[in-house]
Amino acid sequence: MLFGKNSCYNINIITYLRGDMNMNINELLSKMTLEEKLGQLNQIPPSIVGGFDVPFSELIEMVMEGRISQEDFGKMMANSEQDFHEEDIKKGRISSFIMNNGKKYNELQKIAVEDSRLGIPLIIGFDVIHGFRTIFPIPLALAGMFDEDAWENSARIAAKEAMTQGIRWAFAPMLDISRDARWGRVSESPGEDPYLAGIYGAAMVRGYQTKDFASCLKHFVGYGACEGGRDYNSASMSLNTLYNIYLPPFKKACEAGVLTVMAAFNDLNGIPCTTNKFLLKDILKEKFNFKGFVVSDANAVVECVNHGIAADKKDAAVKALKAGLDMDMGTLSFIENLEEALSEGLVSMEDIDEAVRRILEIKEKIGLFENPYINEEEIDSLEILPKEHLEAARDMARKSIVLLKNDNVLPLSLDKKIALVGALADIPQETMGSWAIAGRGSDCVSIKMAMENSGVDFKYEKCCGVEGDYNEEEILRATEGSDVIVAVVGELSSMSGEASSRSDIKLPGKQREFLKRLLETGKPVIACLMNGRPLSLDWENENLHGILECWQLGTMMGYAVVDILFGKYNPSGRLAVTFPSVTGQCPSYYNHYNTGRPASKSKFTSKYIDAPNVPEFCFGYGLSYTKFDYSDMEIVKNDDELSCSITVKNTGEVEGTETVQLYMRDISASIVRPVKELKGFKKISLKPGDSGRVTITLKINDMGFYNDKGEYCLEEGEFHIFMGSNVMDNEKKEIFISSVS
Ligand code: GLC
Repeated sequence: MLFGKNSCYNINIITYLRGDMNMNINELLSKMTLEEKLGQLNQIPPSIVGGFDVPFSELIEMVMEGRISQEDFGKMMANSEQDFHEEDIKKGRISSFIMNNGKKYNELQKIAVEDSRLGIPLIIGFDVIHGFRTIFPIPLALAGMFDEDAWENSARIAAKEAMTQGIRWAFAPMLDISRDARWGRVSESPGEDPYLAGIYGAAMVRGYQTKDFASCLKHFVGYGACEGGRDYNSASMSLNTLYNIYLPPFKKACEAGVLTVMAAFNDLNGIPCTTNKFLLKDILKEKFNFKGFVVSDANAVVECVNHGIAADKKDAAVKALKAGLDMDMGTLSFIENLEEALSEGLVSMEDIDEAVRRILEIKEKIGLFENPYINEEEIDSLEILPKEHLEAARDMARKSIVLLKNDNVLPLSLDKKIALVGALADIPQETMGSWAIAGRGSDCVSIKMAMENSGVDFKYEKCCGVEGDYNEEEILRATEGSDVIVAVVGELSSMSGEASSRSDIKLPGKQREFLKRLLETGKPVIACLMNGRPLSLDWENENLHGILECWQLGTMMGYAVVDILFGKYNPSGRLAVTFPSVTGQCPSYYNHYNTGRPASKSKFTSKYIDAPNVPEFCFGYGLSYTKFDYSDMEIVKNDDELSCSITVKNTGEVEGTETVQLYMRDISASIVRPVKELKGFKKISLKPGDSGRVTITLKINDMGFYNDKGEYCLEEGEFHIFMGSNVMDNEKKEIFISSVS
């Protein structure tokens, strides 16, 4: 099996690599030709040939525009006659594929392991972002669970499913801090807070990286700061902001042992991340001590020519390699240009060996040399999704839902006659959101399907699409004789995710007019939002009776929404991102600086004259079907930490789970500091009438900041500590920290 005609050699390699890895990788390196070395730096995207009458790039456009569903695209990917460059594999010119094709996997791997001269295995990567075949809520929703164990479990399940198809490397977690709701990829992110994103990232790395699977932090770095929220646009920021906001999640996930990182498309402060030595070498590989390898984003190496930082493909390849980029995704720039560059002295063999070594070490670390093949009997094991995976998906979907408004209309009693309206209620694949390519709409449960399974008395009419006008007759048919209207409105999956920035974050189409029409019936109207970004909901918050932020919750979405609508589960989700009142507030985030003229009634202060200066819904916000009161906040300073405690009481009628959040503010420092910074959170579940004491420890050493030299500073002075249910509603204590080491 593993030991083909080169078996004596392969045994040698395996023997080598079971010993001291470094010595054996070096041993292997010493045997590699230049072509074989450059082959290890080369990743091939799925270049589909035949079977379609449009080129692959146009196919992608069609998916992004929603003209092809992700499900159909997934089927095309899985069944098409992809061009896998067999000859190149045999010559050792290919290191990795982006692929989801279990049926083809062993065939390709055998060529690499048994027919090539050195038998170096391929590593197969794929976008396993929020689930693989069992789809979990989009990351922006998952982050709102404030639940490390759940995040870790979602990644572990996803890796397990992906491995049945030979995938051993997920291009996830995406850790881009996202402060601008116009940016489509906010849906893929853990939101706006560095602390939460760091905890999320570390948990996802732990979940993905059991012994034989690699994860990938992306996009390094500052991608979410794209100007105007326009995807791929330039990002500029102070080094203080880089060090204190955008880098911390990556640092935290590096400390968790991530094996790979993906460089971002954008230029940061004038230099594309792909060729940015300061980022890739000085910070990531030196300061963060990252020992894995850096892969480019798709086509990003040649796009350095567009950026205007490289004269041509060869120049781009040279600059990228020397900046610390190790693997080229999809452009053949390294394999086609570095031999000439080497002969011209533009790169050195050390530069090349350093990249090859990092890649070989990761392949060895995840067991590809020892265990390169998959069990072909498992390839079809996901035709029926495992029950425990679906249960985990339903649980996480429930916990990701955020109750934004409830004028005593929720939960619904089972005897209510319900009018269920809105196109999104009846499109199963829309539950998956963006970046769910391996998911299948046929596995998904829409809200309408779940309602049908729940036995409640409801009538469904589409009434209004995400785009286009509403239908008067359908509204009358659906609402006649009903007690309450549940309107499922929001965005199509194609309206968020990559290359899907919106200039206006209101509900698309005529959905707001549709909601106004529904209110004219005089019946209570509850909006269930299906969206991939914060929306501007000023009118909705003012006029609707209930608002549930349901995001795109994945395979089990319908059941989760119905569980919440009828009170089988008390909503506990929180917002990991600010919801602006109007688009004009973007970018809008809680951890802003105070400025010299913080907003007030005075004219001459920092605010808009035509919009509120506070968001519609703030970071950390989320209601419950019960009520929680906070009291008796206390801070005890021990040697090097603050023990912060507060009593929480369930003063409502039903059991519920509260997420107590701890924030701090450094009142005066050598650089301006945010008005609040999340520094801890803890969940507590309480029955009606019960109280609990919640204690969160804040290490004094975590109260510092980075200056623009990247030096960590801890300064004595006055700090305010806040504990409460979100960033705006909390108790406050003041404390002076004097003895800082
Ligand atoms: C895309 C995305 C990146 C993804 C990669 C491979 O363009 O930017 O997040 O992992 O290409 O699909």
